[in-house]
Amino acid sequence: MDTKKKILITGGAGFIGSHVVRRFVSSYPNYQIFNLDKLTYAGNLENLRDIENAPNYTFLKGDICDAEYIQEIFSTYQFDGVIHLAAESHVDRSITNPMAFVETNVIGTVTLLNVAKNFWKDDFSNKRFYHVSTDEVYGSLHDENEMFLETTSYDPKSPYSASKAASDHFVRAYHNTYGLPIVLSNCSNNYGSYHFPEKLIPLTINNIKNNKPIPVYGKGENVRDWLFVEDHARAIDVIFHSGTDGETYNIGGFNEWKNIDLVHLLCDIMDDKLGRKKGESRKLITFVKDRAGHDLRYAIDATKIKTELGWEPSLQFEEGLEKTVDWYLANEKWLNDITSGDYQNYYKEHYQ
Ligand code: NAD
Ligand code: DAU
Repeated sequence: MDTKKKILITGGAGFIGSHVVRRFVSSYPNYQIFNLDKLTYAGNLENLRDIENAPNYTFLKGDICDAEYIQEIFSTYQFDGVIHLAAESHVDRSITNPMAFVETNVIGTVTLLNVAKNFWKDDFSNKRFYHVSTDEVYGSLHDENEMFLETTSYDPKSPYSASKAASDHFVRAYHNTYGLPIVLSNCSNNYGSYHFPEKLIPLTINNIKNNKPIPVYGKGENVRDWLFVEDHARAIDVIFHSGTDGETYNIGGFNEWKNIDLVHLLCDIMDDKLGRKKGESRKLITFVKDRAGHDLRYAIDATKIKTELGWEPSLQFEEGLEKTVDWYLANEKWLNDITSGDYQNYYKEHYQ
C-alpha cells in the first residue's frame, strides 16, 4: 500500500466518523486525511479537538450532494481513497423527515460514486471506495437463533434503512457496471464517546445525570447487538487496508441486549458512579409509545471478518459501557455544549 495516500473521509465530524478520522490521523502520519462534513446538527468539530492541528489533517466543510464541489476537491487534492460515513443516521428522524435521508444517503452517495468513478476511471489501481453501512438493511429478526450474514437478503423496514439499502445497491452497481473498486461493511449498533445524545445510550446517561425520565419505547423488548465504537473504527481500518475488492463484511459485537436490560444495567452503573442508592435511577424509567415499525431484533454474524481478516471485538460490554459512562461524566462540557447548541459555533470560532 502506498504510504503517501490521500484519503477522503466523509462524515468525520459525526460519532463514528470522528473515531475513524482520529485513528487514521494518528496511526498513519504519512497519509493525508481530509475530513469532509456538512456539519448538520449531528456534526460536531469538538469531537476532533485533540487532532485538529495535526499536520496530516484537513477539514473541508461541504455537502456530499454538491457534485460541483465534490469534483473540485477531487481535482484539487487527488484522493486515492474514500471512506464514506456521511449520512442521516437517526431512525426516529427518518420517520418524521424521510426526504432528508433520500437526499444525503442516496443522492449524496451516488454523487460521490460518480465523481470517484470519473476521476479514477483511467486507472483504478490502488484506488478504493469504502462504503460504511448498517445491519438495519437486513430488516428485523424474529427467530431467536437467526443472525444476519453477508448473504442475507435485504429487507429494510424504516425510511433510514431503506435509504441505506438503496445506497448499498448503488455501491455494488458501480462495482459491477464500471469496475469501481469498492468494499462495503454492515455494522451493528455502536456505543462509546462522542455519541450524540439523541441515541439510546447517551440519552439515558444524560437523563439519569439530570434526573429526567428515561423514555423506553414500547415494552423495551427490542434487541440490539452493541459494539464499542473504537472496535468499529479498527474494523474499518482493517477492511480498508486488507479487504478484497467488491466484498462485503458484517461487523458486530456478538453482544445482544434487550433495551430494558441494557437500560437497567446503565442505571446501576450510574447509581454506583454518582453515589446514588442502588435502584434510584431505575425509578426514572418511563415506558412511552413505541417507534412506528420498530424492528424487533438485530444480530450480526461477524464470522467472515474474523476468519478472513482476523478482526474481532476487543471489549466486554460491561467494561465498554463503564468506560463510556466515565467518559460522559468527565466530559460535561461536551454534553452541555450540545444541549445549549454552542457546539454549532465551533466552526465559526476555530476555522473561519
Ligand atoms: P452521525 O449522525 O453521528 O454523523 C453523521 C455525520 O455526517 C455528521 O457529522 C454530519 O454532519 C455528516 N453529514 C450529514 N449529511 C451530510 C452531507 N450531506 N454532506 C456531508 N456530511 C454530512 O452518524 P454515525 O452514527 O457516526 O454513523 C456514521 C455512518 O455509520 C452512517 O453512514 C451510518 O449509517 C453508519 N452506521 C452507524 C451505526 C451506529 O450505530 N451509529 C451503526 C452502523 C452503521
Ligand atoms: O443497528 C445499527 C443502527 O443503530 C445504525 O445504523 C443507526 O444509525 C443507529 O442510530 C442505530 O439505530 P437504532 O435505532 O437501533 O438506535 P437508537 O439508539 O435510536 O435506538 C436503540 C434502541 O432503543 C431501539 O430499539 C429504539 C430504542 N429507543 C431509542 C431511543 C432513542 C428507546 O427505547 N428509547 C429512546 O429514547
